[in-house]
Order: sequence, then structure tokens, then C-alpha cells
Amino acid sequence: MGKKTNEDHVFYRNPTKYYPTAERGKGIYIYDSEGKQYIDGSGGAVVVNIGHGVKEIQEAMLKQAGMISFTHGSQFTTEAAIELADKIVNISPPGLDRVYFLSGGSEAVETAVKMARQYQVDRGVPSKYKVISRWTSYHGNTLGALALSGHTGRRKYHQPLLQHTPHIVPAYCYRCPFGMEKETCNLECAEDLERTILYEGPDSVSAFIAEPVVGATAGALVPKDGYFQRIREICDKYDVLLMVDEVMTGIGRTGRYFAVDHWNVIPDMIICAKGLASGYTPIYCVAAKEKIRKAIMEGNGNFVHGHTYSQNPLSCAVASAVLDYIDKHDLINRSATMGVYLLDKLGSLRKYSIVGDIRGLGLFAGVEFVKNRKTKETFDPGLKLNALIGNRAFKKGLICYPGGGGADGVNGDHILLAPPLIITEKQIDKIVAILDESINEIVKEKNL
Ligand SMILES: Cc1ncc(COP(=O)(O)O)c(C=O)c1O
Repeated sequence: MGKKTNEDHVFYRNPTKYYPTAERGKGIYIYDSEGKQYIDGSGGAVVVNIGHGVKEIQEAMLKQAGMISFTHGSQFTTEAAIELADKIVNISPPGLDRVYFLSGGSEAVETAVKMARQYQVDRGVPSKYKVISRWTSYHGNTLGALALSGHTGRRKYHQPLLQHTPHIVPAYCYRCPFGMEKETCNLECAEDLERTILYEGPDSVSAFIAEPVVGATAGALVPKDGYFQRIREICDKYDVLLMVDEVMTGIGRTGRYFAVDHWNVIPDMIICAKGLASGYTPIYCVAAKEKIRKAIMEGNGNFVHGHTYSQNPLSCAVASAVLDYIDKHDLINRSATMGVYLLDKLGSLRKYSIVGDIRGLGLFAGVEFVKNRKTKETFDPGLKLNALIGNRAFKKGLICYPGGGGADGVNGDHILLAPPLIITEKQIDKIVAILDESINEIVKEKNL
């Protein structure tokens, strides 16, 4: 008998895989049509910050739908958009006073790139157009965002369609590209930005984009303290905009509203966030410094950009209710404290020699697997170790977010955990217990 697949008309991401039918969600749990319970240990793909099935959000949705669900951004503003922009400005680093709404992360990344470009042209520096990004990064799957992304596996198939853009090394302390130790290094990885700006020509560089804590491509890579401060200095020195991609990290995931808050760095733009509406509706935004809007206002007068669902009132009302819920239940602080608990508990997995590194910030944690702990040699990517462990955990009722290629674009295995910020200690214990069992079984079955 062949493998079970979904025989309906949906074009699934992976047509060879069988997807159970999700029926409902409550708190940290998802239930499928056969009544099976899953712990949403990664909030889907780092989306579900407040948990599933929250009544207040349903009420906000219905209230706004009863008023108006759609207006076009070229014709109207709404109280819902105004209120949400106010709330985002209040939680953003000082000076990020303008909020542009979008409905997808890739769309938001490309909006930031275009905003930077128009800023440079409208203020009279049209030679600046390049956006520098990093290897071992993910900024989205549309062609522009994918060109910035530094993940060989995702890029390879579509490479001929991607514009060539400069990439610098990641801040990857476990696998330092310069062979340094975290305790004694001089932030060589940050200096790589200056080197690259000089090679490319400062007059040609518009912006630098980075995830403050890398998510999908490497499993919660936290930079050394001082990294983003040095990056800010370099950007200032060469008149380059600093754009931080907080699509995963934004809105409390790392224990602060924004991950850059850990280092008191003020970027020129923040791109955020899956957690903004916690999965209840698609909404993202770019929060930008007033100087960017002002240059555009005084230049062209019109930001030459726009999407049909930008500023969608229903989405804005939902996101607004999510931010209220986060505030009311003090979920940012909860992410910080429960994150410490999660990392501590994950430490027990070090008993497996294949566990090379455990890292994270707030409720955003990664476990990296290695064939040899001493040499950090990776497993053959053909083994698909991350998927084996992820699929086994899924079978046992734990959803995590496995990934490969972190070490060098092709090799490397990790899993990412990002449970809803409402999670309890007991539920974290359960996550770690299921992971433990899953790793144990795969180690035995594959003789690792
Ligand atoms: C850091 C980062 N940027 C951008 C994106 C793209 O977002 P979307 O999938 O909504 O296009 C993602 C998605 O995982 C992401 O993690």
C-alpha cells in the first residue's frame, strides 16, 4: 500500500506528505478531526503568541466585521488602523513613529527595501540602492525577499530568478565563521559589515537587514551582546539604514516587545510580526523613523508602493485586540521568565551526544544536532535528521519547527521551539519529555 496522502483539490506544500485535518484550537493545543491533541510547541511557524481560541479576539473580530471589514488604503483610513498604529508606536523604540501595514512577512520585507530605496532617492542620494543581508538568514519566499535570504536550500531552485545582493557572515557563535570563541572575540562578524560596505562602495549601499535572533534557518541564533550596537555604529558611519526583521522575534517572542530592545538599539525600520495578530488574521507592518516618511513627503510626495489588503480594518482590529490581550496578561514578561525555564529544561537533552547546542532568548529556543560533538561535524543531509525528529514528535502530539542547512547552507539540523507565551511550566515539561522520547527513539533506530 502506498503512502497516505490528501486526495482533495488543495495544492499542498508537500504533496507527498499526509496532513491531518485541524478542527479546532484552544490555548496551546490544536485538535484534529480524529480528536488527537497536539501541543503547538512552535506556534505553527512562530506565529501563535497568545494561544488559540481566545474569546476576546473573536469578539473584536465580530465587532469590526459588524462595522466594516474592508476599505482600500488609497481611499480611506479607519479608527482600527489609527488605533493599532498608535499602539505599535507606543511599544516600539523611540523615534519609530510611522507604521505601514501589510498582510505578509515577505511583503513587509520588500516594502522596507522599497521604502529605503525611495528614501535615498527622495533625499537626493539616488546612488544608494544595495541592501546587504546575511548568510544563514530568512527574510521570505517572494523573489526579492528570497534574494536577501541566506539559505541555500530555499534559494537553489529559484537562483536564476534572484537578483544578486551582497551577504555578510552570520553572528553564529557556535560555528564562528572566524574560528573565534564568544568570550574573547572582537565581534569580527559585525566588522564584516564594514568590510562589505567598503568593498561595495558606501555610496551604493542603501540598507542592511538582519534578524536580531535568527529563526527558521538556524534555530534561535542569539548574537553576542554588543553585536547590534556595533552594527548600528557601522550603519551610522556609512549613512546606511538599519532594518531589523522581527517577523519571528517581534511582539514578545524573545521576552521584550522587540528583540533589539535587549541591546537598546534603535533601528531605522522594524519589520514585524507574525505574533502581531497571533495567527488570528494575516497582518504585518513596517515601523519606520519619521525621517523616512518626511523625505518621501518632501520628495515624490507619494510612497510608490501599496497592496490591496494593506491597512485592512478587520485585521487591524484583531491585532489591536491581540496587543491588548498581551498587555493585560503581562505576556512579554511571561515570555522572558518561561523562556529561562524552557532553556533550563531543554538542557537535559544534552545527555544525547547528538545534541550539539541549545540556545535561545525568551520563548524562542533552538536545539542543534551534530554527528560529533567535539568537531561539530554535521549529519548527512540525506538522513534528514531534523525532519525525522520533528515528524516523530508530531506523531507523539508535539508540533515543533525543524530545519536544515543552518551550518553552511546545506548541512546542519536543528529544531525550533516557540510555544504560545501563555504556556505553563507543566506544559513545558511535557514538551521536553516528548522531545526526549523522540530523540531517544531516532537515535536507537538510526544507530546514531
Ligand atoms: C524572519 C522572517 N522574515 C520574513 C518571513 C516571511 O514571512 P511570510 O512567510 O509571512 O512571507 C519569515 C517567515 O518565516 C521570517 O521568519
